[in-house]
Amino acid sequence: MNFDNPIERRGTHSSKWDTMEGIFGVSPDNGIPMWVADMEFAAADPIRAAVQRMVDGSLYTYFGNDTAYRNAICWWMANRHGWKIEPDWIFTTHGIVNALGLALDAYTAPGDGVVLFSPVYHAFYRMINASGRAVVECPLVEVDGRYEMDFAHYDSLMTGNERMLILCSPHNPAGRVWTKTELQALAAFARRHELLIVADEIHHDLVLPGNRHTPMALIEGVEDRLITLSAPSKTFNIAGVHTGNVTIADPDLRARYAAKLAAMGIGPNCFGLHMATAAYSPEGALWVDEVCRYLDGNRRVFDAGINAIPGLKSMPMEATYLAWVDFTRTGMSEGDVCDRINRSAQIAASHGSHFGTGGNGFMRFNIAMPRKMIVEAVSRLQQAFADLQ
Ligand SMILES: Cc1ncc(COP(=O)(O)O)c(C=O)c1O
Repeated sequence: MNFDNPIERRGTHSSKWDTMEGIFGVSPDNGIPMWVADMEFAAADPIRAAVQRMVDGSLYTYFGNDTAYRNAICWWMANRHGWKIEPDWIFTTHGIVNALGLALDAYTAPGDGVVLFSPVYHAFYRMINASGRAVVECPLVEVDGRYEMDFAHYDSLMTGNERMLILCSPHNPAGRVWTKTELQALAAFARRHELLIVADEIHHDLVLPGNRHTPMALIEGVEDRLITLSAPSKTFNIAGVHTGNVTIADPDLRARYAAKLAAMGIGPNCFGLHMATAAYSPEGALWVDEVCRYLDGNRRVFDAGINAIPGLKSMPMEATYLAWVDFTRTGMSEGDVCDRINRSAQIAASHGSHFGTGGNGFMRFNIAMPRKMIVEAVSRLQQAFADLQ
């Protein structure tokens, strides 16, 4: 496993590399893509071997008998997260955004309020708005440089029209690993306001050393209202296969989700199932442990370099590979900040304003790349903001 060697991704239909110039004006020839959430690392050996077996077999037909696949997921959740699930609690979707769209459709009606803790992953907004539901923002509060939830305030924001909350755990974009106490408070909030909880735990494996993710399902009193979304996509850098999981313990909620999947004619992709089965294995686990250690090293280099620029502050990252950098103290507009990042530094990064209320003045940087690219990115950013030094 060598994460230091760059992989040539230009001209490979990589959304991160091959659409960067059109969107940011940053050429892939010398630009550094730090926006789309995928990693500049080759997939783990067991996954490559699974694909190779399919290639050698020359058969890409309908997939049947998913027992091994379901068992692999159950094994992973029990071993990595201490979460015991049953094989028949699991549904397979075409990724997590798809899973979320189905959940919105299955459990809410047009006009219903859906609670988000902002700033948060931009696709949540897109999906809620596109399905005619209403975003209800509960702003996270910055305490000692990291986000916390303020349920007393959120209680005052509820109108009775809300049906669901979406939790991003660990949190994208700020890399928070929510504590058990925070999740217990969230469960109580959901009960008080009769809200279903959709826990998007897609980043649950990418937890940096010293932190521990708590699955929402391990919090008492949520069994009758919880839908958990997870996937091997972020963990193993296989997002292009669009294979995700929805795990539901409650039989009634499960029946409603099953009915929605049936109505939409959604079935699995054979590549995704073979790859996920191979990934959720002891060999896959070793790869994830190594990737997390490497990301932690990148985080240290990135944070040290960014925090040395007066006015910039990178939030302490507990999970994910997404650094959330506060530019508010520079006094610059998002346009000015982006101009320096795109044009001077030749870096593509995600605009904070796309993550909803509280995101303005921040930028999100993907640091899952060979260390020397991080060193180069930091040096370019230091130059682009040199007048602040
Ligand atoms: C919190 C979160 N959920 C979902 C997704 C996307 O999931 P998928 O590609 O499976 O639709 C991302 C991608 O960055 C994410 O950060």
